[in-house]
Amino acid sequence: MKPIVLHVAAEVSPFHKSGGLGDVLAGLPPALDDEGVDVRIITPRYGGTSKFTSIGGEEGLAPWPVPLRITLAGQPIDVRVYEARTHRGQATTYFVEAEHLSRGNLYGYGDDAYRFAVFGKAAVAIASVLSRSRNVGRVSVLHAHDWHAALALYYAKALASSVQGIPCVFTIHNLAFQGQERASTTPYLDIAWEAFHEVFEDHGTLNLLKGALLIADRITTVSPTYSHEIRTARYGHRMDGLLRWMSHKLRGITNGIDTSVWNPATDKHLPATFDADDLAGKEACRTALRFELGLHPSKAPLLGCVSRLTMQKGIDHLCDVADDFVRRGGQLVVLGEGEEPLEHRLHWLSMSHPGAIAFRRAFDEGLAHRIYAASDLFAMPSRFEPCGLAQMYSMRYGTIPVARATGGLVDTIAPLHNLHEVGGATGILYRSDESDALRQALHWGLAVAHDPAALAAMRSNGMREDFSWQKSARTYVEMYRELGL
Ligand code: ADP
Ligand code: GLC
Repeated sequence: MKPIVLHVAAEVSPFHKSGGLGDVLAGLPPALDDEGVDVRIITPRYGGTSKFTSIGGEEGLAPWPVPLRITLAGQPIDVRVYEARTHRGQATTYFVEAEHLSRGNLYGYGDDAYRFAVFGKAAVAIASVLSRSRNVGRVSVLHAHDWHAALALYYAKALASSVQGIPCVFTIHNLAFQGQERASTTPYLDIAWEAFHEVFEDHGTLNLLKGALLIADRITTVSPTYSHEIRTARYGHRMDGLLRWMSHKLRGITNGIDTSVWNPATDKHLPATFDADDLAGKEACRTALRFELGLHPSKAPLLGCVSRLTMQKGIDHLCDVADDFVRRGGQLVVLGEGEEPLEHRLHWLSMSHPGAIAFRRAFDEGLAHRIYAASDLFAMPSRFEPCGLAQMYSMRYGTIPVARATGGLVDTIAPLHNLHEVGGATGILYRSDESDALRQALHWGLAVAHDPAALAAMRSNGMREDFSWQKSARTYVEMYRELGL
């Protein structure tokens, strides 16, 4: 029987997703399965938001036959687990439905720490059952993603004797989110005061991510460049000192993308398909998107952006330069939701440039695909970017990313240095975290878009790049082997 690697994560696409975390948990498991690992995933079943169409709807879910009993801070909590064969048959997923945890949205409640403590408890209970079962392989590694899964590692090491010895990996997808709470929360999350002082304490507060960094046998993050950046004060979100100290167990492994889902030659969301040898369908996608979003029919270069609207993503810089971009003959389309001031600015930009700027405040998977496919350029002015998947989707769809040189954007984009000598370039990178630098990078973008030879060469380079998960999956498996897989 194959050894089990048990992933614990708050998002798994296509069931529930708010960003790249969900995509990683969709693409990495099949690639690990190809490497001979029995991949199992534990994730919440949120109320009403989980879409089970890919496994044949609710019928694809089988109630787990094993009764689970958990208590949190002395309170018994009602938990139901549903099991399904997912990822086109290449993984098993356990969906945890529980009081407090299973609400309409993924995050954003005042008691999120408590909700994910419930999740952590349930995850460890499932891990214990699997580790005692004779019908499955050995549970060899517990792999937790982001702060929502941090407590699973603590409960596994501190409370559950049957899984105590299982090696743990913790992956940082975004260091900005740490699960920080008042110290007084500690006993309500079943954390011993001793552990608070030794592991979780962060300047008098409780910091769940910090605890996971200390507990894990290995820490990974989602690109080599980000793994170095987070050891500096500028990008370390106050964890840089600790991460420097943890350097011996920290490494960066660049994300891949699921090339069967993100494939312009077969994508069901597109009005027309295309590939690197025949881009006619891309032109049809562009015309259709202009119509869909009410942009003027035109030959103007189209700049796309699909993003959470947060300061991380530098959307304020995009707003600063949108006027200039449009004045120089470009069109802009933004799909995203997030911080209200950014939503308002984008709404106002679209009102004041009708036909040239379109803004959709929504989370819309299909429209996202159509934007990657239709655009000439794609904006990622990120202040920091642990890996970034959107730039890889863009390149795969023949769209040239214009991105700030940070984190995974550095590791996945080959930058253009000279307009007359494209070479292997796949995108445009700029350094400074200022609107002016983005403005200039977009001027370059417009120059490329107006130069048919440069445009064709960069498109072709990007579309032919191998962004599949295979290489990263092999690196993860090497690391699991170091831990005894
Ligand atoms: P992050 O995880 O920081 O948000 P990534 O680039 O890694 O950034 O992944 C973002 C993912 O979320 C991509 O799949 C992107 O297409 C998707 N996404 C972001 N905002 C939206 C939206 N409003 N509608 C649809 N998809 C979105
Ligand atoms: C985070 C990061 C993003 C990364 C994603 C998946 O949300 O912001 O850069 O691609 O996780 O690892």
